Amino acid sequence: MNLELVRGICYIAASILFVFGLKMLGSPTTARRGNLVSAIGMLIAVVTALSAMTDIKWAWIIAGAGIGSAIGALAARLVKMTAMPQMVGLFNGFGGLASLLVGFSEFHSRWADADTTQLFTMVAIFLTVLTGGVTFSGSLVAYGKLAGVVTGKPVLYKGRNTVNTAILIAIVASGIFFCAQKLGQVENAETQGVYIALVGIVVLALILGVLSTIGIGGADMPVVICLLNSYSGLAACAAGFVINNNVLIVSGSLVGASGLVLTNIMCKAMNRSLANVLFSGFGSATAAKGAAYEGQARPVSAEDAYLILEAARSVVFVPGYGMAVAQAQHVVRELADMLTENGTEVKYCIHPVAGRMPGHMNVLLAEANVPYELLVEPQDVNPTMKIVDVAVVIGANDVVNPAAREDQSSPLWGMPVVDVDRARTCIVLKRSLNPGFAGVDNPLFFKDNTRMLFGDAKASVARLVSEFKH
Ligand code: TAP
Repeated sequence: MNLELVRGICYIAASILFVFGLKMLGSPTTARRGNLVSAIGMLIAVVTALSAMTDIKWAWIIAGAGIGSAIGALAARLVKMTAMPQMVGLFNGFGGLASLLVGFSEFHSRWADADTTQLFTMVAIFLTVLTGGVTFSGSLVAYGKLAGVVTGKPVLYKGRNTVNTAILIAIVASGIFFCAQKLGQVENAETQGVYIALVGIVVLALILGVLSTIGIGGADMPVVICLLNSYSGLAACAAGFVINNNVLIVSGSLVGASGLVLTNIMCKAMNRSLANVLFSGFGSATAAKGAAYEGQARPVSAEDAYLILEAARSVVFVPGYGMAVAQAQHVVRELADMLTENGTEVKYCIHPVAGRMPGHMNVLLAEANVPYELLVEPQDVNPTMKIVDVAVVIGANDVVNPAAREDQSSPLWGMPVVDVDRARTCIVLKRSLNPGFAGVDNPLFFKDNTRMLFGDAKASVARLVSEFKH
């Protein structure tokens, strides 16, 4: 059979595996298999692409694949779950850099080639280096913010939007000049001009990536990383057009589209627009604080909290960022098992933006082997919250803040939250009355049916477990 045809079939097979893998990532029960299916697709794509190359130095390919696999395996084993967003950010950045290098090297190898002068190729090279550059430098800043190397506060200065717009205009102007050239037909001097324009576009794209990310607060970085993930897909897609590789075009589009969908889901769950995330400087001293709520918070001891739980017929756990900080997921599972043994119906309600990265709570609970069928979403549990005996909030704050429903002046107004205040009793486990990520006070702590179990979440749940044991 014609080798080209076989390669085409392999690329289609790889693309189908990507689509199915992505679909399977949509549910915790199939996510691991989805990852494997996509990885097999990627292996097929890489082997097929390599088989098409004639003039190839295998030593470089083997060394690159070996080093890359070793770094990937080590990162997967060593990087802590809480450091996952910055690792994803870094990987995105390298995806962008790879596309930038592909675009640049294709320009290099073709610039004297009279046959490859189409406008289409020039536009594809321009888009590849532009999106690749912005993704690379933006991801490095996002990584730095999450890792604490760069300040987590939004770095705001007067006229920043004007500066960013000026850079964008310069990029577009250089891009138009670059794309208008016909490489094979220009004399040396003009070719140098094209070259300078391309280098200029790369430098400006790198600067734009830094400037547009540095003004965003560290805690908004997971959203930015999703967006940069989408950019890295678009860069790969453009690179696919440059080198005429169909599977790169398909996989790049899938990454680009899924990154955008995830960004949109996160913005909706926070009730913020993408423009608000990117340009408002959320998390700076000037950000809106919302009302301060006064009242008497009612502390509860572990012994009394145990008595409430022991008598409950239904309990909903609502984990949040504090559970990740305290690493309380294993004791929470232990407590849930004891409640179930006691005849209580137990569920875990996961808010889409609980924690600091998409799926943060799902990952932690999966690590503690919590059965997937016990996980529910706010829209499933909210309508029946009135008949839930106890809602146990474990280190969550913003995602259970009733001000989102009750107080129009709150920055959280309109955000879909878990209505734990409507349960018969709500027990909140946290160390103080301090606010969470959004920096706004929470009237839940002062409601009549709320009891505050102060302390580190892991220690508090462990005390409840030991009460059950004795
Ligand atoms: P937060 O509102 O950030 O509240 C977390 C709470 O955990 C804090 O109030 C803190 O209170 C408590 N805490 C910290 N360490 C603790 C410990 N060791 N033991 C017990 N409690 C502890 O968390 P959330 O409710 O999960 O909401 C997430 C927030 O992050 C939302 O505003 C969301 O919009 C934002 N966000 C999320 C994402 C994603 S993708 N998940 C991305 C960007 C932004 P104390 O200090 O009093 O203990």
